Amino acid sequence: MTFISSRGPYPVTRLRRLRQSEWSRKLVAETALSVNDLIWPLFVLSGSGERQSVDSLPGVFRLSVDLLLAEVARAVDMGIPAIALFPVTPLDRKTEDGREAANPDNLVCTAIKAVRQRFGDSIGIVADVALDPYTTHGQDGLLADGRVLNDETLEVLCQQACVQAAAGASVIAPSDMMDGRIGAIRQALDAAGHYQTLLMSYAAKYASAFYGPFRDAVGSKSSLGSGSKQTYQMDPSASDEALHEVSLDLAEGADIVMVKPGLPYLDIVRRIKDEFSVPTAVYQVSGEYAMLMSAANNGWIDRDACILESLLAFRRAGADMILSYFAIAAAELLADR
Ligand code: PBG
Repeated sequence: MTFISSRGPYPVTRLRRLRQSEWSRKLVAETALSVNDLIWPLFVLSGSGERQSVDSLPGVFRLSVDLLLAEVARAVDMGIPAIALFPVTPLDRKTEDGREAANPDNLVCTAIKAVRQRFGDSIGIVADVALDPYTTHGQDGLLADGRVLNDETLEVLCQQACVQAAAGASVIAPSDMMDGRIGAIRQALDAAGHYQTLLMSYAAKYASAFYGPFRDAVGSKSSLGSGSKQTYQMDPSASDEALHEVSLDLAEGADIVMVKPGLPYLDIVRRIKDEFSVPTAVYQVSGEYAMLMSAANNGWIDRDACILESLLAFRRAGADMILSYFAIAAAELLADR
């Protein structure tokens, strides 16, 4: 409101007063970003001494397990609470039915065991559940006559979740978007004695074009070809439906719900947080990372400032935790401040 003061027609209420000094800006800051909010996704290669860059994700590397451990050590040192592991499945391990997903000695299980053995419970390990790294067609589920089968897929997902939990995963994160998977996986985990294993549901996962660089990184893009995931991932036009998905996943036993992608879907994060008040995660996906990095590498934006601003925006929207390829960079920036 603007009042006429005795000194003249000036505003009495001046929001700039609180903005004039660093100390007052700090006191009134409404949202904070901390290293405690970050989850760092990492890509795992087979072999040893292997380190491959990803063209569409500058600064992100695929690493064999031995080199991965050094990166996880950095994360532990910086206080990052959890990592998320994604395997780059060798081509000769991919099949139509993705059965490698349920192999207790597959690449991701090997990586989980190695991280767990070296670091104990000092860092959380998030393991993705979906068949796309393992199928020759790149779909997240079993395929018959060009259709992704729901209930048949659930059985494989349950096996996949159980081998990952047995390997030492702390959090099982189903990203497949099959109906009923949270309940089915919760039951399977409990029946196998893994009742303490957390479930982080990719509850509101959209059929997004922002996953492109991730599919390059794990090598599922060429498998998927012109195939799309629109029969199971959500339509970008949906908003109420995200709440419906979340309510089902919570009823089925999800401990944490996720929105993905991130920045284009902040409205969804806010609605979910307001409606359910449960632990809410957001995934700043590969395409978002690629956009920021390509602009930064051209000198068009300030990389460090944009990293922190984008992550803070997730917190402002209501996210409790953020999966981001910037996690380690952000942790370093936050530590320097
Ligand atoms: C696999 C999965 C995807 C991502 C995470 N898990 C890709 C997809 O659904 O096609 C995307 C992550 C990113 O883009 O950073 N189901």
